[in-house]
Amino acid sequence: MLILGARDPAYREITSQADYLGRRRFLHLAAGVAFAPAAGGRFALSEPQTAKKDATSYNNFLELGESKEAPGENAHRFNPKPWTVEVGGEVDRPARFDLNDLLKAFPLEERVYRLRCVEAWSMVIPWIGFPLADLLKRVGPTSRGKYVEFITLHDPARLPGQRNPLYPWPYREGLRIDEAMHPLTLLAVGMYGETQIPAQNGAPIRLVVPWKYGFKSIKSIVSIRLVEAPPKTTWGMMQPGEYGFFSNVNPEVDHPRWSQKRERRIGEFLKRETLMFNGYADQVAHLYAGQDLRKDY
Ligand code: MTE
Repeated sequence: MLILGARDPAYREITSQADYLGRRRFLHLAAGVAFAPAAGGRFALSEPQTAKKDATSYNNFLELGESKEAPGENAHRFNPKPWTVEVGGEVDRPARFDLNDLLKAFPLEERVYRLRCVEAWSMVIPWIGFPLADLLKRVGPTSRGKYVEFITLHDPARLPGQRNPLYPWPYREGLRIDEAMHPLTLLAVGMYGETQIPAQNGAPIRLVVPWKYGFKSIKSIVSIRLVEAPPKTTWGMMQPGEYGFFSNVNPEVDHPRWSQKRERRIGEFLKRETLMFNGYADQVAHLYAGQDLRKDY
């Protein structure tokens, strides 16, 4: 697989990295931070992008309300500044990053990814971010760091949905270390050409794992920890029979209450066939060689 080269150069040096790769890439400046656009590159997608107004008004973000419209309507209540992310656990160099330092530390790039929700709807979203692997390499996972745990900010004053006692706050998610280190796994800090994420989409930093159901892509992250055993996840705690740790998009394994064979692409009329690993099988199927994906759902 072609992987972008060494990550050492700062984001301002993206042009020379692009020259090295022999690609037509340009610096984009929006909200003051440069990123390498996906156009024509390996992370572009030929399917049409979902309209920005749909991606920012039809959301799942329980911390800002339970309906699809509530997160957009309540977005003004969530100010994501200042923001720090703790990276620790089984690592050689635990660190606390201010969001602005993260934006400077890693070259930003645009990735156009499909997002498939477990509820059988989907979108195509142009994210801006950097591979989670870049951050993990910076802190140096130890040999005991077999899984990665992610935690959302817990602050009911800013995220009023956290007053709802039905859920075990804060929202948590997890990945196996090889999934976390995979080049597709992105920490997004922007979308639709702007290096800023709207509150309802998980400001100011969220995970995007495009071959898994959307609930794995945890929003508004404050803690990333390397751990030895599979971490607890919000939906795994709530309904273990319905939401497994892996939650790879798989049209052959139905949700106990509905089929996963097809999906409604937001903005389209006819339903689409759901693709194995959400269309990323060439890149990720090897991670699960020898696993029974009916058992490891
Ligand atoms: N992260 C947090 N903290 N809280 C949530 O409720 N919902 C998840 C995921 N991340 C959720 C979350 C679900 S179910 C989906 S489908 C995606 O976010 C939706 O992302 P989007 O609103 O940007 O499309």
